Order: sequence, then C-alpha cells, then structure tokens
Amino acid sequence: MNVYLETYGCQMNEYDSEIVRAILKNGSFRMTQSLPDADVILLNTCAIRESAHSRIHGRLGHVHQLKRRNPALVVGLLGCMAQSLQEEILERHPVVDLVVGPDSYKRLPRLIHAVCDAGGKGLEIDLSEYETYSDVYPERRPGVNAWIACMRGCDNFCTFCVVPYTRGRERSRDPESVVAEARRLAAEGYKQVTLLGQNVNSYRFDDTDFAALLLRVADVDGIERVRFTSPHPKDFPRPLLHAIASHARVCKHIHLPLQAGSDRILERMRRTYTKQEFLALVDEIRETIPEVCLSTDIICGFPGETEAEFEDTVDVVERVRFDSAFVFKYSERRNTIAQRKFDDDVPDALKTARVVRVNAIQKAISLARNRDRIGRRVEVLLERPSRKSADDLLGRDDGNRCVVVPRGDLKPGDFAQVRIEAASANTLLGHALRGSLGRVRERV
Ligand code: 5AD
Ligand code: SF4
Repeated sequence: MNVYLETYGCQMNEYDSEIVRAILKNGSFRMTQSLPDADVILLNTCAIRESAHSRIHGRLGHVHQLKRRNPALVVGLLGCMAQSLQEEILERHPVVDLVVGPDSYKRLPRLIHAVCDAGGKGLEIDLSEYETYSDVYPERRPGVNAWIACMRGCDNFCTFCVVPYTRGRERSRDPESVVAEARRLAAEGYKQVTLLGQNVNSYRFDDTDFAALLLRVADVDGIERVRFTSPHPKDFPRPLLHAIASHARVCKHIHLPLQAGSDRILERMRRTYTKQEFLALVDEIRETIPEVCLSTDIICGFPGETEAEFEDTVDVVERVRFDSAFVFKYSERRNTIAQRKFDDDVPDALKTARVVRVNAIQKAISLARNRDRIGRRVEVLLERPSRKSADDLLGRDDGNRCVVVPRGDLKPGDFAQVRIEAASANTLLGHALRGSLGRVRERV
C-alpha cells in the first residue's frame, strides 16, 4: 500500500513523521509523494493554536473529495490534534478512519491493516510514560541537517499550553542511543544535528544532564555543528551556558522563549520567572557567550493582559534586542489551565494590534543587528539552493542567521567563509572568500 504523509507543526512533529515513515517502511508500506497515488493518507497534526486546527479542518474537506472518488482510501489523523480532540474528530469528520496520538505510532501498521480488512474506525490515544522511540531509526530526507529528539513530553504546564496534554509526561532518552544515532548520522554525511525536546533543561538520564549530552554529541566525529531547542528560562543550567561557550561545535544560538514581560502575566502563565530574572539571565548569557544569537517566542493578548502589562513585553523586547522573535496571538486551548481559570477577554483586534506592534519593533531591531554584521567574515554551512535564484545557495551562520551567497563552485554541505555585504531583517547576503572552504576553527 502507498502511504502519503503530510506534516504540520514544529520540528518535533517533523521528527515524529520520520519515525512514522520508518515504522511504516518496516511494516512493508511504501511512501508516496503523490496524493492521487495514495491508498492511505496520514496527516501528522499540530494543536498549538486554533489556526493549526483550522488548517487541518480545511485539509480534511479536500481529503473528503478524494475519498468520494476512492472509497477504499484510508485516512488517518496523527499527532497533537488527534490526541487533543480524540473521538470528536471521528464525529466531526466521518472521512477519518484512524486517530492516533504521538505515543502510539508503533501500532500504525496493525491499525491500518485492521481498517482495510474489517472496516470500522481505529482510535489509539494512550499516552506512555516510557515511549521514546529510541529503537526506531528515523527515515530522514537526505541533506545537511538532522534532528534527534532527546526527550519527549512536558511537565511544565504553562497555563496557555496544550503540549502536556497532547504529548504527555516528560521522559528522557538514554544518552547512549542519542550518541549512537548521531554517529550513524555522521557516517551518512549529515553535518548538523539539532537536539529536540519540549524543555531540554529538564533532560536527565541517570547521571547525564543536558549539558553533558550536548557535549557528547558535539564530540561525535563528522558532526560539525550541534544545535538544540528549546530551553526554559527558569532554572537555566549554568553548565549548559559553559558547554555552549566552550565547545567550538556547539552553535552560539539560544532560543529563549520570553512569552510575556509583565510579572503578573508571567505568573498567570505559570512561567515561574519574573521580568527582572529574565533580563538578568540574558545578561549572564551574554557575559558567558559574548557572540550569542538570541531568539524568542512571545504571546500577545493573554487573558487579562492590560495595555500597561503589554508595554512590559515591549520593554523587554527593546532592552534585550533579540536577534529574532516569533510573535503569536494568544489562542485558547481546550483543557489548559488558562482555559479553565481565565476569560479569553482581550479582543481579537487588540491581540492583532499588539502582535503587529511587537513585530514592527523587532523587525527594526533584527535589521539593525543584521546590518552590524556587514563587513564581517562569518562561517556558513551551506544547506540548499536559494528559493529566489538557482544561482545562489542558502546557508546558516553559527547563530542560525540565513546567509545567501552566489553558488560558484560551492555545494550544500560545504562550509564557506563569507564576507557579509548586505542585510535585511531576515537574511544576510555575502560572497564566499576565495579558497576558504572548510572549517576554520579547531575543535576545542
Ligand atoms: N496561544 C498562542 N501561542 C502559544 N504558544 C503556545 N501555546 C500558545 C497558545 N495557546 C506559543 C508559545 C510557544 C510557541 C511554541 O507557541 O510562544 O513558545
Ligand atoms: Fe509541536 Fe506543540 Fe504543535 Fe504538538 S502542539 S506539533 S508539540 S508545536
């Protein structure tokens, strides 16, 4: 049977789709990139904001038309929205045959066969305290970058967030299996590994904490760069800062989700840090890792957020001067603490206006920070042709900034020393220096 798999949401979900592909291939399914050729359509879904749900509801309308033409088609919903809505999806979308949550993917081959053989519906939404899929080697697309989930689930229960309900309890993966996977990736030619977890600060397996894991992966020969996402600003482990500062192959980039600048809103979000503590952490990070690139996530219009409280968010954005920020309108999620305790009382138009304002401020900061790089020489790992021109290649510097260079003799996977010549808020443009291929910095 041919399976078409479509992925929505974060990098963790992309990684899960690689796990699903591996499980299906071992179960003798074939993957197809063509929707009309599919016997099985699987959507790996996201639940983080209502907009993610809306996209899937829309997509299922299209899938419904395909099923009218081919009644034997099997349709499955995987991932966070499946886990969050459960039976409700089957009621609302009769086109769906299977609803499978993030901890049940090993059952997929059996479930698909059962639906094909006996008809009916399949629902697998048990969350596990142990499943880490460490025994499944993901079926990745070839390229420069690979992701490894080193932990799954989340125990933080930030009041706005659906993830603890869709991905269950926190569990860390055996470091030996993570390092073994990194070695295999290096042997297959991947250059950069990103370690994933909903909250990597709480990674722990026996005596190994996240800083130790990061250093072990960075020591794998052939892996030239290691990144990770995301840490939580509360109790930020100092050894992690020193690990980032000290190892040449650990990228000097930290994604540090702020969410809000007001102490009252942070408390209502249950973030367990204050504005001052966040600012002090940023100072410490910059002292320990002087060239660090900082990005963040921000939510505008959390229940009860007043104009003055929103100004606290603006104040942090202006003081910290992040390199980049993802800014979201608060979206009420079912069963979350915020949904149960607070009224979603900030009008939608005001949420939008706040997002627009933060984005405008951040764009000016990103542009200024990027312009500061003009004239500098940076090391770029080239990833792929640029979308705008086949004559250009796109890569990233150590801080994860996008850099576009003329292709010349370069190819994806090369490291180039690039002189930056121009900058927009999102992208740096430059030229590779002659004879500058390969890494300059020595291993520490
Ligand atoms: N509404 C809006 N944004 C949210 N995020 C998480 N939950 C919500 C929500 N209910 C944002 C946070 C998080 C990022 C992945 O998504 O900023 O860091
Ligand atoms: Fe990823 Fe969160 Fe969306 Fe799930 S809900 S796919 S964990 S962003």
